Amino acid sequence: MIETITIFGGHSRDGEPEAVQRIELKMGDVVSIVGPTGSGKTTFINDIELFANGNTQTGRRILINGVLPPVEYRDNPSLNPIALITQHTTFLSDLPVLEFLTEHAGIRVLDKSLIEQMIADTLSFANQLTGEPIIPGVRMTELSGGQTRALLIADATIICDTPIVLLDEVENAGINRSRALELLRAYRKIFIFVTHDPRIALLSDYRIVMKGGSITDLLRTNEEERAFSHQVAKLDDLLAVMRDKIRFGERLTTHELEGFA
Ligand SMILES: Nc1ncnc2c1ncn2[C@@H]1O[C@H](COP(=O)(O)OP(=O)(O)O)[C@@H](O)[C@H]1O
Ligand SMILES: [Mg+2]
Repeated sequence: MIETITIFGGHSRDGEPEAVQRIELKMGDVVSIVGPTGSGKTTFINDIELFANGNTQTGRRILINGVLPPVEYRDNPSLNPIALITQHTTFLSDLPVLEFLTEHAGIRVLDKSLIEQMIADTLSFANQLTGEPIIPGVRMTELSGGQTRALLIADATIICDTPIVLLDEVENAGINRSRALELLRAYRKIFIFVTHDPRIALLSDYRIVMKGGSITDLLRTNEEERAFSHQVAKLDDLLAVMRDKIRFGERLTTHELEGFA
């Protein structure tokens, strides 16, 4: 059972020691990684995925439950506790969605009687994240970017069921991010998101701040932020409605802002 991930800081791109030298993530934590383009967010996520041990360009080290992760994690994909959903994920598989999920579940899930329900749950989870429902008979390679992301997140959460899920830049993926977080919270995992979305950032337990390749700060969501996070959510919903109207060629009126003071 994985209970904690510990990250020991290395150095920035300029070789300076990182300001934050130790972070301990606990099972159930939802964490955002923030920082401008080029600040090292993807590199940080990759360090975790690689179980860095001073052997990457950052010099960071990762411990699982306080000790070096067992080598099987890396050698045996079915034992790896980490699912990484990258910015540029494409499926190599040309199988129809349903066959792909069935095949994948056949490898990952030991109790075969659970597979049918798990696949149904995975599709339902994915379809709550994407505006365009996934047709089970469609080939994986024909899914849109948003559908692909949604299916990967659902697959990682339900079929792989890894205790740690890393998500790089969910922003432009065309998925319902707050619904994703809501659904993910129902599973006890460590979630690490790269995001600048205020709504998601305020829903996470804390944010890891990156600059120049280095972890410069750790901001726990404070009382003030928590207190107005529902207004941020409301504003985000308003913007989503306006975005949809624009998408469908409609005009916007000042009425769109009614109810938001
Ligand atoms: N600590 C570090 N030391 C050396 N190079 C780094 C470090 N962190 C990031 N880099 C390099 O900086 C560049 C930008 O990092 P990246 O993780 O892609 O940023 P972001 O995802 O925030 O846009 C990459 O080429 C990466 O290899
Ligand atoms: Mg990046």
